Amino acid sequence: MNQTVVTSQPVVREKEEVVVNDNHWVIQAEDLTKVYKMGEVEVHALRGVSFQIAKGEVVAIMGPSGSGKTTLMNIIGCLDQPSEGEYLLDGEQVSNLKDDQLASIRNRKVGFVFQSFNLLPRASALANVEMPMRYAGVRQNLREKAQQSLELVGLGDRIDHRPNELSGGQQQRVAIARALVNDPAIILADEPTGNLDTQAGDEIMSLLLTLNREKGTTLVIVTHDPEIAEQARRIIHIRDGLIDNHM
Ligand SMILES: Nc1ncnc2c1ncn2[C@@H]1O[C@H](COP(=O)(O)OP(=O)(O)OP(=O)(O)O)[C@@H](O)[C@H]1O
Ligand SMILES: [Mg+2]
Repeated sequence: MNQTVVTSQPVVREKEEVVVNDNHWVIQAEDLTKVYKMGEVEVHALRGVSFQIAKGEVVAIMGPSGSGKTTLMNIIGCLDQPSEGEYLLDGEQVSNLKDDQLASIRNRKVGFVFQSFNLLPRASALANVEMPMRYAGVRQNLREKAQQSLELVGLGDRIDHRPNELSGGQQQRVAIARALVNDPAIILADEPTGNLDTQAGDEIMSLLLTLNREKGTTLVIVTHDPEIAEQARRIIHIRDGLIDNHM
């Protein structure tokens, strides 16, 4: 069993402590900024964001459209680099890595769940779930591992179905099985229930929370839905590229 320590409030620590490889934290973000340059125009999407997430936590990120939530998720998930600031993922400094090193960390440490599922349309559920293992260079027992992951999300009897032969909720389960298969340090879900009806959305949320409870998987969920955010143990509010916990 994973022994997890859960904090209910953001923890403020001194800057010099953050560089210490401390196994308690899966995410340590210090003063992250992101500036998108569009020709002459600069968009300041993040303007100095600091927070930590402990192993095993469930954190919701909320905020108005355009406030920087996806930008932040892309940095946390090693899909993009901050313009400035420090970021440690599972104790590894990632804010100055090259693209290939970033991809390698991403494949090992992060599972993604997107609003639009992002499954390969022509591939079976099984082949979709095998994909992150192929990227990570796993060579053995791909089929068995993918099958186990699909069983974990309740789809053991749908492994040969393609996405268009599955319901929306089932497609999102495949995406969750895919996110889990490399045993990531963290699952990042950007509006995971946004394309689902209420019942399917509730089932996806309870699946994610069960995985958190039983496997200790750290979860970060972007949502506009206050009922979903309430199921997290902590909410980080973002407004205009800054954390605003007075919303
Ligand atoms: N690749 C990009 N290039 C330039 N500007 C961008 C890019 N991505 C996002 N932006 C800008 O950065 C700001 C933050 O965008 P972001 O996608 O992070 O918002 P969000 O909080 O996820 O919004 P939503 O709730 O609508 O998904 C916005 O003003 C957006 O226009
Ligand atoms: Mg977004």
